[in-house]
Amino acid sequence: MHSDLERVLLREEEIARRLDTLAAEITADYEGKDLTVLAILNGSLIFMADLLRRIPLPLQIDCLRVRSYYDKMESSGQVDFDRAALPNLADRHVLLLDDILDSGHTLAAIVEAVRQDVRPLSVKSCVLLRKVKKRARPIEADYVGFDIGDEFVVGYGLDYQERYRNLPLIGVLRQP
Ligand code: IMP
Ligand code: MG
Repeated sequence: MHSDLERVLLREEEIARRLDTLAAEITADYEGKDLTVLAILNGSLIFMADLLRRIPLPLQIDCLRVRSYYDKMESSGQVDFDRAALPNLADRHVLLLDDILDSGHTLAAIVEAVRQDVRPLSVKSCVLLRKVKKRARPIEADYVGFDIGDEFVVGYGLDYQERYRNLPLIGVLRQP
């Protein structure tokens, strides 16, 4: 799998170190609050597992399966998820977790649906990666692991056509 990469962007140890500080920040902010982490699958699976084991709060975990359709390596703007599958979290603070903020379509659609249908005490979002670019939707994340350039990356949960999610590092895919 490594030979499909043009270069490595973030090594395992770098990701781990950043998760330590990110987790400490989230822990301090949600101390004493009823927190539910709503992880957006499949992309945030590995990020979620590593981040949440660093947060010593009595939090709850829920997952939402979302598909963002990509034409080649660009978002098509179509985001599919089952609104009826949103959990009942009206008395909770919700922290959405996603792998990457790119066009903003995915996070914008989910934040909107959670605000309208779930009406939790608060909604914030946390992404491992944020592409520095102009977004199609005006949405920002409250917690960000790393800012990266506008390149297509894989590994650590991120896929290209469902491959590379199990790479332990994050790399830029070699152009075909
Ligand atoms: P957005 O809707 O364009 O912000 O993108 C959000 C989703 O698109 C993420 O949760 C990823 O699943 C996918 N995505 C965006 N950029 C990349 C990338 O560089 N590599 C792999 N997946 C990506
Ligand atoms: Mg994907």
